[in-house]
Amino acid sequence: MNPLRSLILAAAGSDAVRRLVATTPGTAGVVERFVAGNTVADAVTRVNRLVDDGLSVTLDHLGEDVTEPRHAEQSVQTYLSLLDRLYAEGLTARVEASVKLSALGLRLDERLALDNAYRVCAAAEQCGTTVTIDMENHTTTDATLRVLAELRHTWPWVGGVLQAYLRRTEDDVRELAVADSRVRLCKGAYAEPDEVAFTRGHEVDLAYVRCANLLLAGDGYPMFATHDPRLIAILAERARWYGRKQGSYEYQMLYGVRPDEQRRLAAEGETVRIYVPFGENWYAYLMRRLAERPANLLFFLRALASRS
Ligand code: FDA
Repeated sequence: MNPLRSLILAAAGSDAVRRLVATTPGTAGVVERFVAGNTVADAVTRVNRLVDDGLSVTLDHLGEDVTEPRHAEQSVQTYLSLLDRLYAEGLTARVEASVKLSALGLRLDERLALDNAYRVCAAAEQCGTTVTIDMENHTTTDATLRVLAELRHTWPWVGGVLQAYLRRTEDDVRELAVADSRVRLCKGAYAEPDEVAFTRGHEVDLAYVRCANLLLAGDGYPMFATHDPRLIAILAERARWYGRKQGSYEYQMLYGVRPDEQRRLAAEGETVRIYVPFGENWYAYLMRRLAERPANLLFFLRALASRS
């Protein structure tokens, strides 16, 4: 892995760097580019704009790796009010929720995370929408897939995420590429060791294409989460090759990343879903975004320098 990327991802876990970044003047402007505000109301305002532009959305309440049950409970309560608000505003046909199990207590107890995820999924069903369970670092993959399988007994529409950089993922894709199965395929955003993950960019890209082929050939609903122009061109060609009609798969991109490309694909009739994070605990999320693109880091450092 690129040394700068490793350094930034290491800083994502550092409390000292978090405090420094959070209290430095100028940070807010950069955070705004990638995060849709602190509250449910802020997020819903941004979501309305995206939906007006023909985009679909998945909303993520930021916060991960909670170590106290009351924080997991706060996260559940935020998702419940978010879902109520989406229903009240008539947005649930186009907007769903993304959930990190570590925000619901996975690090404390898998059962707690499962119970909490049940509550969020039950509320989503009542509101007429869906939930996708994000994937975190490789130490959580088995537990996350177990919880996903449990949830799918009751709600087959619960989406899962697979990361192309993990060496195990092709096998996982084969398991999940079944009828009605919503699977988001991403490259993977965490610093992972060579034993479990491909660490060279071109290996990850090749793995992504292999997994995409399996998903397109299968009976599920693939959700291709990438901003990579080369992969997007390959996916368009592969979708045609497999006879996939628009709407039988979707593209997904992050809020604030390649907005013109998001709208270009939507204008071509593709389903494009934007992952919109909101909430006060933006630090780890922001660091992963900075690690993905050195230009973002320069933009960030320039903003800090000009305002401090
Ligand atoms: P890559 O990083 O190679 O970027 C390709 C090109 O896209 C860049 O050259 C640049 O033009 C543009 N680009 C990419 N990232 C950018 C950024 N941050 N800022 C500006 N431009 C950028 N990961 C995970 O481990 N678990 C998960 O659950 C999810 N969920 C998820 C949902 C959605 C909707 C998306 C889009 C992504 C995720 N990810 C994720 C993150 C994913 O694993 C990956 O880290 C990022 O999407 C970046 O990878 P790309 O495929 O975009 O390619």
